[in-house]
Amino acid sequence: MNYYIITGASKGIGKAIAEELLKNEKNYIIGVSRSNSIEHPRYRHQPLDFSDVAGVENNLHKIFLPLEDADKLVLINNAGVLGDIGYVGEEMANDQFKFVFDINVTVPAMLMNSFLQTYQQQSCQKVIVNISSGAGKYPVDGWASYCASKAAIDLFSVTVQQEQDKRGTGVKVYALSPGVVDTGMQENIRESDAARFSTVEKFRQYKQKGDLASPEEVGKKVVNFLYNTNQYKDVLLSVRGM
Ligand SMILES: NC(=O)c1ccc[n+]([C@@H]2O[C@H](COP(=O)([O-])OP(=O)(O)OC[C@H]3O[C@@H](n4cnc5c(N)ncnc54)[C@H](OP(=O)(O)O)[C@@H]3O)[C@@H](O)[C@H]2O)c1
Repeated sequence: MNYYIITGASKGIGKAIAEELLKNEKNYIIGVSRSNSIEHPRYRHQPLDFSDVAGVENNLHKIFLPLEDADKLVLINNAGVLGDIGYVGEEMANDQFKFVFDINVTVPAMLMNSFLQTYQQQSCQKVIVNISSGAGKYPVDGWASYCASKAAIDLFSVTVQQEQDKRGTGVKVYALSPGVVDTGMQENIRESDAARFSTVEKFRQYKQKGDLASPEEVGKKVVNFLYNTNQYKDVLLSVRGM
């Protein structure tokens, strides 16, 4: 059996990846998020709120169960939040920084740590995919915490890959940017106020002109990537080029 641990599998890109993977009877999914929307014999849901880091720590053992029959083990850190949109220093609550970093960086790092600790000794193929963003490569005003969190997960991924290479474990780590995708996150972006985010109109235009990729389309591309990771040498990748 191939095991895929996917965070944020309840909606958007994560759900589309999970549903695409479930088409193959050799795949088993462990989904982790606050809510669940998938019922399937090869799907197990672990409810967790990533803004509660202590709660995540206490429940890690429920996610990473022994999987001795695994032919392939994959962790997909997909759950993510944008946080409140707005300029730093202008009506921005301090607790937003921790909120965004806990969900987008701290918990994904903890999951990578536990995944490697639990499954390191298994000889099967092991892959970690962190869903990143173009916004981790350039600034977007109004999104400072989000941009910084995605830049952090990019360099975290590159560093962990270097460590795995030095240890010769064969583990592959990727930070994959999905492009602009028609999910709840984009809905929130479009609803924001231009005074707090100067390029909001560009995002409204993406929707009006039909320029957003569907989650299903992106889910298929990510799954195709997961089936062919041996073709990809770089850690930082974009779904757009696939
Ligand atoms: N959509 C885009 O255009 C776009 C572009 C670049 C990058 N991305 C990245 O792609 C990933 C998926 O985004 P999406 O667009 O699919 O977003 P989405 O539709 O808003 O889905 C977000 C997922 O994250 C989970 N999540 C949110 N808060 C959580 C929490 N506190 N604890 C546990 N899980 C939580 C949600 O599950 P629950 O609500 O059930 O907890 C949901 O399954 C994110 O990392 C995002 O940064 C998206």
